[in-house]
Amino acid sequence: MSAAAPAPKANMGEPVPRYDARLKVTGMARYPSDVPVSNPAYAFLVTSAIAKGRIRRMDLSDAQAVPGVLTILTQDNTAELKPLAFGGGGGGAATSIQGLGPEISHDGQIVAVVVADTFEAAREAAYTIDIAYEPQEPSATFASAGVTEEDASKASERAKHLPQAGDADAAIAAAEVVLDAEYGTPTQHHNPIELFTTTCVWDDDRLTVYEPSQFVYGQKNNVAKKLGIGPDKVRVISQFVGGAFGSKAQLTPRTALIALVAKRLNRPVKLVATRDQGFTIATYRAETHHRIRLGAGRDGKIVGFSHEGWEVTSRPDPYAVAGVEDSARLYDFGTVTTHVTLLHADRNTPGFMRSPPVVPYIYALESAMDELAVKLDMDPVELRRRNDSMKDATGKEWSSRSLMRCYDQAAAAFGWSRRTPQPGSMREDDWLIGWGCATAVYPSHVGAAAARVRLLPSGQARVQIAAHDLGTGAYTVIAQMAARELGLPFEAVEVELGDSDLPPAPVAGGSNTTASACSAVMKVCAAIRAKLDMPAPVTGQNFDLKAAFEHANLGSIEEYAEFLPEGTKPEAISNLYAGKPTLGGGSHGKKLMYALGAEFVEVRVHARTREIRVPRILGAFAAGHIMNPRTARSQLMGGMIWGISSALHEATDIDRRNARYVNDNLADYLVPVNADVQELEVILVSEEDREVNPAGIKGIGELGNVGTAAAVANAVYHATGIRIRELPIRLEKLLV
Ligand code: MOS
Repeated sequence: MSAAAPAPKANMGEPVPRYDARLKVTGMARYPSDVPVSNPAYAFLVTSAIAKGRIRRMDLSDAQAVPGVLTILTQDNTAELKPLAFGGGGGGAATSIQGLGPEISHDGQIVAVVVADTFEAAREAAYTIDIAYEPQEPSATFASAGVTEEDASKASERAKHLPQAGDADAAIAAAEVVLDAEYGTPTQHHNPIELFTTTCVWDDDRLTVYEPSQFVYGQKNNVAKKLGIGPDKVRVISQFVGGAFGSKAQLTPRTALIALVAKRLNRPVKLVATRDQGFTIATYRAETHHRIRLGAGRDGKIVGFSHEGWEVTSRPDPYAVAGVEDSARLYDFGTVTTHVTLLHADRNTPGFMRSPPVVPYIYALESAMDELAVKLDMDPVELRRRNDSMKDATGKEWSSRSLMRCYDQAAAAFGWSRRTPQPGSMREDDWLIGWGCATAVYPSHVGAAAARVRLLPSGQARVQIAAHDLGTGAYTVIAQMAARELGLPFEAVEVELGDSDLPPAPVAGGSNTTASACSAVMKVCAAIRAKLDMPAPVTGQNFDLKAAFEHANLGSIEEYAEFLPEGTKPEAISNLYAGKPTLGGGSHGKKLMYALGAEFVEVRVHARTREIRVPRILGAFAAGHIMNPRTARSQLMGGMIWGISSALHEATDIDRRNARYVNDNLADYLVPVNADVQELEVILVSEEDREVNPAGIKGIGELGNVGTAAAVANAVYHATGIRIRELPIRLEKLLV
């Protein structure tokens, strides 16, 4: 990887090192399960060995006899937990499968919780519990007997109004060139390095939950509902999160179970679920299938686009990814038809996973665009240019769109003009070289948020907001924003995040955190400046803070403010306090608001062994104001590396007979290591968009991950002439 930090450019903040860098590298950053609690008991989960059926009998006698065992939760003693409706959006219940039996709805469902004085005793006891099941034949996935289909637009709020424009079927039928192809993406699991943990501590009737979370206010309100207590009795603390990627955005069943047992034992209880349990007690990215039809003129102008998606979900819950919402907007297709079908199987409920709507759907579209370019005998960048437009087929306009600037900068840096289009034509000795490209796109979300800032005459400031740092750099950019707005050095700002006692921020999902939190901080800082008669800060300005405080006759200033994005109803704030975030932007407002990018990949496929290598990957991205080029670059890099993973490595394999995940560990679940990622370059393309939010920020946490898989697949085609339409592309698929 090239190591040089980019020089600051127009509309870029300073590339300051991370606020929490020292804490992270010295091991002092306290992740939720690291927080010391007094005299904890340890929980171990027992999960179902069948995917469908009933528990007939559970024999706990051996388990109870293990020295140190304190109690065991089962279906027989947990009836007081209230059922919580499936959340769908950010912060709600991740699944409606919440009971410990007797009905079993998926493999690995939690059926008991053993609590003991030590982790070892709890684990030993868990393995001695003897469960007799009445199994039934489960339905695992696509093409399994017994799956049921459902029209997503009827089942899911998200998919209710999917984009349609004109008569796409007729336009495609009449088009000079037609591409009709099907694509598939596999099951994937987030596998954050930090496992799924929960520690619960009661102090009389007040509960504190330490749990890695993307939404502490959602956790707080929903765990209160599960327990049947007031939300004012619950505090959720999650100051550092060791990877989440969507898997820690909603309430999973474990939290209320640990809270309940801690209350019962009148003792803190700590759970660290195992890696394999993480595959079934939380969410994941379910497998998808796509049929894409594109009709175009010989000149490359697309006249019709049809995108049909099929997605697997659990038996009860209509979780829908529905990325046609975004694929249908990406170019001016003239006419559009979209449809999404859900397949209900005997599986745990899927959920958000990095860039959820767009990753599978844009992979399909951007592969199809490459196939269309081949059919047209046109350069794939040129095909995008001919269909680039400031409005989509429904007539909606973009607030800003820098797609072709991204393509042009990326193509120049990559050396794209040296590409010869014929597959296999760029061979070097035994290696077939392929160059491919694809578009990255992610909706620019922003939500209502509140923040509190205190400023002292000494020039020290403290920012408080219950936003979340998932390792993304939230502490850093929030400190930068306060420093900028108050004219202070970065080091003078202290930031407190991840605690439901602080003013609320939205779920850290949909890449909204920087935009939402920074907009709220801007508003509070403006209120502080008004009190001190302080001019809007200019870099390098000289303002006598002490004198201003004296003049105002104040010893310190503390301000609280609520930020409402344009067009948001005022109740968005009370909803946020109640754990229900509202995220606007993307395709949902008056204008289309998206961050965009162009990714270029070089692959090398060995002519005989078909070993696949990615020596070079480069992306250029435009995402409005970039708060910190250093943290932004890290996010985009990580996203692209994950894209390489999706393209070549990653898939959860399912044993179809038992509807069970097979490779549920980090030895068998393949992800790229450093040797798989060689040269990687990020170009930040300057862009200004004052419509997205007051801070002009478009999120980038998920952008880099989009389009990479298609760029790799397109490069593999260019190297070999073989078009792989089912991810991941592993070498056996190229042995033809
Ligand atoms: Mo992210 S997958 O939107 O939590």
